[in-house]
Amino acid sequence: MAAIEKLMDKLVGLCKRRGFIFPSSEIYGGLNSCYDYGPLGVELKRNIKDYWWKAMVQTRDDIEGLDASILMHPRVWEASGHIANFTDPMVDCKECKARFRADQIEGAMCGSPGYKGRKANKCADEGKFTEARLFNLMFKTFMGPVEEAANVVYMRPETAQGIYVNVYNVMQASRQRIPFGIAQIGKAFRNEITPGNFTFRTREFEQMEMQFFVKPGTDMEWFEYWKAQRIAWYDGLGVRKAKLQFHQHGPTELAHYAAAAFDIEYEFPFGWKELEGIHNRTDFDLKRHAEYSGKDLSYFDDATREKYIPYIVETSAGCDRTVLTTLIDAYDEDVIEGEARTVLHLAPVIAPIKAGVFPLVKKEGMPEVAKKIYQDLKKHFPVFYDDGGAIGRRYRRMDEAGTPYGITIDGQTLQDQTVTVRERDSLVQTRVASDKLLPFIQEKMAGYRRVD
Ligand code: GAP
Repeated sequence: MAAIEKLMDKLVGLCKRRGFIFPSSEIYGGLNSCYDYGPLGVELKRNIKDYWWKAMVQTRDDIEGLDASILMHPRVWEASGHIANFTDPMVDCKECKARFRADQIEGAMCGSPGYKGRKANKCADEGKFTEARLFNLMFKTFMGPVEEAANVVYMRPETAQGIYVNVYNVMQASRQRIPFGIAQIGKAFRNEITPGNFTFRTREFEQMEMQFFVKPGTDMEWFEYWKAQRIAWYDGLGVRKAKLQFHQHGPTELAHYAAAAFDIEYEFPFGWKELEGIHNRTDFDLKRHAEYSGKDLSYFDDATREKYIPYIVETSAGCDRTVLTTLIDAYDEDVIEGEARTVLHLAPVIAPIKAGVFPLVKKEGMPEVAKKIYQDLKKHFPVFYDDGGAIGRRYRRMDEAGTPYGITIDGQTLQDQTVTVRERDSLVQTRVASDKLLPFIQEKMAGYRRVD
């Protein structure tokens, strides 16, 4: 792999240029930490969500899907502990007015005009910071036209609570028995003090969460099961194994609800960071919701005649963080026939476009044959037709978009109805009969393994 310098800057540039990710409201100067997914980005994100949904819901008999609302009864957040505990300590610099998380001063840089690049711990040492104040990360808004305390509602900071309050609705409707799970993909909002690193930490993001309800005493067994399942999922997504690790939460890191927690971490250019959390939440959530709602949330097992509050094992992944991880992990630069190329080694299952279709020249009937191949393949997966410029440049454009296969229609095609299939990673070119093209590409996609 070529030496990759300033990877994040290059990636941000590529995301904008190729239409993966744009800054939000850019014509107004942008909105801090908010991003929009462009044509390629929205496909990549959708493919990742579909891949998760397939693994977590559609191929399993013991997990059901849910799509709960973002706004929930305010008591939910009292019961969950978010009103009391979902806080970060915040300090302000009295000199430049910058704001920092008190527990993340080390390594932080000032971004205020006139102070850019100044180390935050220098200001801390010089006594420029205020006392730390606790800041609740939930976004507040009002339900209805009157902005008064009685009408306060919160934008959910995690999707999990929508699952807990629906557990018996889902269980009864789908005739599930414990152990079983509920999965959900949706937006969450956190008024982060220090968002950053592109889409790694934002104030609006999507989560892919699954809550697995189990009998007390079996929770640690399920916890280990889900750890293994979840790390294997990233391998299927094409993320390199050597870049993933588990991090066990020590007693001071554990969230207020967790008895055990492991993060799946990825080695980002800015260090090993959390990609997904796997938590043993015990009976904390259902006990609290029973207490605050006054409803009995215990489960009765007909077979054993036992009654208990189920324990919960949670797998909580960030969708935007997974998109960022796949882009970083896929990014590469190499030199082909003396010419530099930027390539995204995205696995075909998540690549926004699966194949580019190129007539070698815009004459001799090649565009007509290429258009027909393009229309036929488009019924099966996203393909891109490109007849503009030298063939090498067309390949490069698709390499940068992460398109795994390039199909070229040339003079020989007109003679014997074969086309050339070029593989993005190995650059191997194979001649394939056009009527065998679809199964050829489908087989390649199914058997894809990244080669470094
Ligand atoms: N229900 C448990 C829960 O929300 P979490 O560790 O706070 O746990 C789970 O969040 C995942 O959500 C994280 O691993 C991360 O991928 C994603 N996430 C959390 N905060 C985020 C933020 N500000 N921006 C982007 N993704 C975030």
